Amino acid sequence: MKDFLYYTPTEVVFGKESEKKVAELVLKYGGHKVLVHYGGKSAKKSGLLDEVCDCLQKGGIDFVTLGGVVPNPRLSLVHQGIDIVRREKIDFLLAVGGGSVIDSAKAIAYGAVYDGEVWDFYTGKASPKDCMPVACVLTIPAAGSEMSESSVITNEDGDIKLGYSNDICRPKFAIMNPERTFTLPPYQTAAGVTDIMMHTMERYFSHDDDMTLTDNIAEAILRTMKESVHAVLENPTDYRNRAQNMWGGSLAHNGLTGCGLTGDWATHQIEHELSAMFDATHGAGLAVIWLSWAKYVYKENISRFVKFAVNVMDVPNDFTDPEGTALKGIERMRTFYRSIGMPTTIHELIGREITDEEIQEMARKCTLNDTVPQGNFKVLRAEDIVQIYRMAR
Ligand code: NZQ
Ligand code: ZN
Repeated sequence: MKDFLYYTPTEVVFGKESEKKVAELVLKYGGHKVLVHYGGKSAKKSGLLDEVCDCLQKGGIDFVTLGGVVPNPRLSLVHQGIDIVRREKIDFLLAVGGGSVIDSAKAIAYGAVYDGEVWDFYTGKASPKDCMPVACVLTIPAAGSEMSESSVITNEDGDIKLGYSNDICRPKFAIMNPERTFTLPPYQTAAGVTDIMMHTMERYFSHDDDMTLTDNIAEAILRTMKESVHAVLENPTDYRNRAQNMWGGSLAHNGLTGCGLTGDWATHQIEHELSAMFDATHGAGLAVIWLSWAKYVYKENISRFVKFAVNVMDVPNDFTDPEGTALKGIERMRTFYRSIGMPTTIHELIGREITDEEIQEMARKCTLNDTVPQGNFKVLRAEDIVQIYRMAR
């Protein structure tokens, strides 16, 4: 096991009616005037937004609202948020929604206390010294942003989607009531679970060894997500299994499954180009890319793929044919993705044939003109990424 630092400062308040604690928690973490940030319509329609605002009002906390965050959140709204925070003298950011809303709130939190352009943090031109306090009321188990140090923003100017990670933006608290996820449509439910599993798999596919405990935690998360997603797709108000999904989303991306190892992250980087260019749903794009990534890289460490096939995908271990066992694991993953309604080709994801020019452009952007390779399990240059996109067509 490699040396590691495990830092997860977020206070998690999990369970029924947990959103009723929002005012008390904002006060606990020093908020007096709050920007309540939310998405398109779900939080309004479900009544959650009104309940949260009501609770803040009763708690004597002043607030301003800013909605309109879209999946693959845009930089232009972040700029608007920064202006509002400064003008209204806001001192606390509360995201009510999923990863996109939380990530947008984190970007506002960096930008509002910085004199320059917030996008510079995402391109690596500058590093933030400070960040306003952020917290969330989570409505979709998926991105794991509720406990993570990351934020992913899309700059509409050039369709560039970039992530930035820094511990200073980790949410102060995360309110998670699984009942609030009952309204999720099947596609978002499935894409969310695909993302949760992928956050675990990005770390699991590693060449490091002596990771028995971390591996066992990762495999438990993967097996639990596989089972619970079918249950909630059948019965969207199944509290027990919505709760497994919700807690799984946080554990998969708060650092726990990465303790003592070096993760891969190529699938995420390659997918980000698809969501930037085609505004694809992140989790659905991951399903498409992982399958061809796995086929492209499995020979780097067949025994790792055998372990995954046997312990996660329930493939019988054929000791005479490790490669066959490894490949059956990947094929079972394809069957699983189909069973939950995820696409398994780019065509299915974007609704048309992708052109070779588009593939070349994405591979170029993903590697900054072939100057920054991606992944660790197998280090991928632009040409490798072109092959992975082509195999996913
Ligand atoms: O906008 P509304 O109307 O709220 O609809 C949302 C949105 O359309 C809907 N939704 C959310 N909660 C709902 C609901 N609909 C009904 N009932 C509810 N309870 O779901 C749709 C997707 O929401 P979004 O926030 O985009 O989902 P997700 O949490 O998957 O976030 C995706 C974003 O997170 C980034 C992705 O790249 C993508 O931009 N990621 C962020 C990470 C991080 N910060 O650590 C890591 C991830 O790997 C990921 O890259
Ligand atoms: Zn993800």
